[in-house]
Amino acid sequence: NKKIVIAIDGHSSCGKSTVAKQLAKQLGYIYLDSGAMYRAVTLFALRHQLAGNGKVNEQALIARLDEITIEFRLNETTGENETFLNGANVEEEIRQLPVASHVSPVATIREVREAMVQQQQAMGKNKGIVMDGRDIGTVVFPDAELKIFMTASPEVRAQRRYDELKAKGQTMSFEDILKNVEDRDRIDSGRKESPLKQADDALILDNSYLNREEQLEWALTKAKERM
Ligand code: C5P
Repeated sequence: NKKIVIAIDGHSSCGKSTVAKQLAKQLGYIYLDSGAMYRAVTLFALRHQLAGNGKVNEQALIARLDEITIEFRLNETTGENETFLNGANVEEEIRQLPVASHVSPVATIREVREAMVQQQQAMGKNKGIVMDGRDIGTVVFPDAELKIFMTASPEVRAQRRYDELKAKGQTMSFEDILKNVEDRDRIDSGRKESPLKQADDALILDNSYLNREEQLEWALTKAKERM
C-alpha cells in the first residue's frame, strides 16, 4: 500500500470537510483544512483593523503577514484538529460570519496565497494526507494521486449550513447564509489568483442527493484504487 495525496476542492459549504475528515480517519491519514488557514489570516486582519465593513486593506495586511503563525493542534477529546493563530485557539471564531464575509476577498491576495500554499505543500510532502480547499488539485498538489471536485446546489448548501449553525444554537437567517454562499462562490471562481476550478483530472462528486455514507463509500473506493 503506497501513501497518496488526496485533494478535495469545491464550492463553499458542500460538505468537503466532512468527507475529507472521514476519509482521513478511515485511511489513517492527516486531514488538513486549508480554508481554516485563510480564515485565520482573515481573523488576524479583522482584529488589527486591516479588514472590516466588507473591505480589506491589502497592502497593510501583506506588510504584516510575517506576524501570522498558523498551526493545527489535536484536541484529544474530540480527536479533531483545531486551528491556532499565534498560539491561541481560534477554531470557533473563524467559523463566524465576520470571518466568513471577509475571507474570500482576503483569499484573492497573491502574497497571502503564496504563504499559505508553501505551508500546505510542506505539510503534504510525506503524503498520507487529505487536504480540502479551492486550489488543492490545481495549485497546491497538481500531482495528487486522487482529486475530487465536490459540488451541490447553492440552496442545498445553504440549508446544510443553516441546520449546522442552528444545531449549535446560533441564529442566522437562511437568506443571509444563502447570500454568503453565493458571494463566496462568485469571488472564489472569478478571482485572478488560483480561481476555484475543476482540475482536468478531477473526479466530480455532486452530493446534492447523496448521504454521508454514500459519499464516503464512493471516495474510499476511488482512493483504494490508487494506493
Ligand atoms: O473551505 P472554507 O469555506 O472554510 O474556505 C473559506 C474561504 O477561503 C473560501 O471561501 C475561499 O475564499 C478561501 N479558500 C481559498 N483556497 C483554499 C481554501 C479556502 O481561497 N484552498
